[in-house]
Amino acid sequence: MGNFLAGKVIAVTGAGRGIGRAVALAAAAEGARVVVNDYGVPIEGGEPESEVAESVVKEIVAAGGQAVAVADDISTMAGGQRIVDVALAQYGRIDGVVCVAGILRERMLFNMSEEEWDPVVATHLKGTFTVFRAASAVMRKQGSGTLIGFTSGNHQGSVAQANYSAAKGGIISLVRSAALGLNKYGVTANAVAPVARTRMSANVPMELKEIGEPEDVAALVTYLLSDRAREEKITGQVYTIAGPKIAVWAQPRELRAGYAEGAAWTPERIADFLPGTVGVDPMPMLAQLEAMARAAAAKERPNA
Ligand SMILES: NC(=O)c1ccc[n+]([C@@H]2O[C@H](COP(=O)([O-])OP(=O)(O)OC[C@H]3O[C@@H](n4cnc5c(N)ncnc54)[C@H](O)[C@@H]3O)[C@@H](O)[C@H]2O)c1
Repeated sequence: MGNFLAGKVIAVTGAGRGIGRAVALAAAAEGARVVVNDYGVPIEGGEPESEVAESVVKEIVAAGGQAVAVADDISTMAGGQRIVDVALAQYGRIDGVVCVAGILRERMLFNMSEEEWDPVVATHLKGTFTVFRAASAVMRKQGSGTLIGFTSGNHQGSVAQANYSAAKGGIISLVRSAALGLNKYGVTANAVAPVARTRMSANVPMELKEIGEPEDVAALVTYLLSDRAREEKITGQVYTIAGPKIAVWAQPRELRAGYAEGAAWTPERIADFLPGTVGVDPMPMLAQLEAMARAAAAKERPNA
C-alpha cells in the first residue's frame, strides 16, 4: 500500500470491471476511500445483470482498504448525484471523480438507429456530465478537487462507431470547459484516452500495436488524482496511455488563416482563394484506413 492518495475520497464510475475496477483498486491501495460505481450491464448496455460494484468493494476491503458500492445508472441525473451524496454521507468529502463507465453499440452511420445512438451518448457524455455536475458543486465550495473523464483515440473519428466517437469528442470539450470554468476554484479537469486489454478492447477488429493493461491506466489516473499532479497545475489535458507509452494530445487551434481583401466573401471568391491558401489539414485516420484497405487487399492482417 502506498500513500499517493492518503486522506482523499475518490469516486469511480464503471468500476466493476475493466479499467474502472483497476482504478478503484489502485486508488484504494494508495490510501483513498473509494466510491465504487457500476450498473453491471453487458457491453452494449441495457438492464443490469451483475453486482460487480459490490464484488470490487469486497476485494478492496479484503486488501485492507475502504470502499462503498453504488450500483446506480450514471446516465441519470439522480445516479450522478447519488455517487456524490454517498461519498459525502460516508466519508464527508469528495476529492476526485473518475468517469470510466461506457458501452458500445457498433453500426455504420447510415444504418444507425436512435436506439443505438442515444444510450451510447447518454452513458459516456451525459454520464460524465451527471457526475461532474454533482461533484463540481461540492468541490467549488471545498476549493479543491479533480475531475477525470475517459475519452478514446476514436474521438478523432470512427468508421462504425460514430455514436461512441461523438460522445468521446464531447467528453474532451466537457473536460476543457470544466478546466476553464473551475480553475479559479482550485478544481482541475483532465481526460484519459486508454488502450488496455478489457472486454471492450477485445471487440476491436484489428491488431493493436500499442496496448497495455488496465493497471497501467490506473497508475496514470492515480497520479492525476494526486497532489503531485495538482502541484504541476495539470488541467485541461488529454493523455493517452497504451502500455509503455504516455502521450499528450495537442490543444485544438487554428492551423492556418487567410484574409479577404476588400469585398465580402462569395462562394466564388472562396473557391478561388481557399484551396491554395488555407487548404486542408489531412486526416491521419483516413490515411490509416487506406493503408489498412491496401493490407486487406494484399491479404495481410491490418495493424493500427
Ligand atoms: N479498453 C480500451 O482499450 C479502451 C480504449 C478507449 C477508450 N476506453 C474507455 O475506457 C472506459 C473503460 O472501458 P473498459 O474497456 O474498462 O470497459 P468495460 O466494458 O470493461 O467496463 C465498463 C464498465 O462500465 C459499466 N457501465 C456501463 N454503463 C453504465 C452506467 N450507465 N452506469 C454505471 N456503470 C455503467 C459496465 O457495467 C462496465 O463494468 C470506457 O469509457 C471506454 O470507452 C477503453
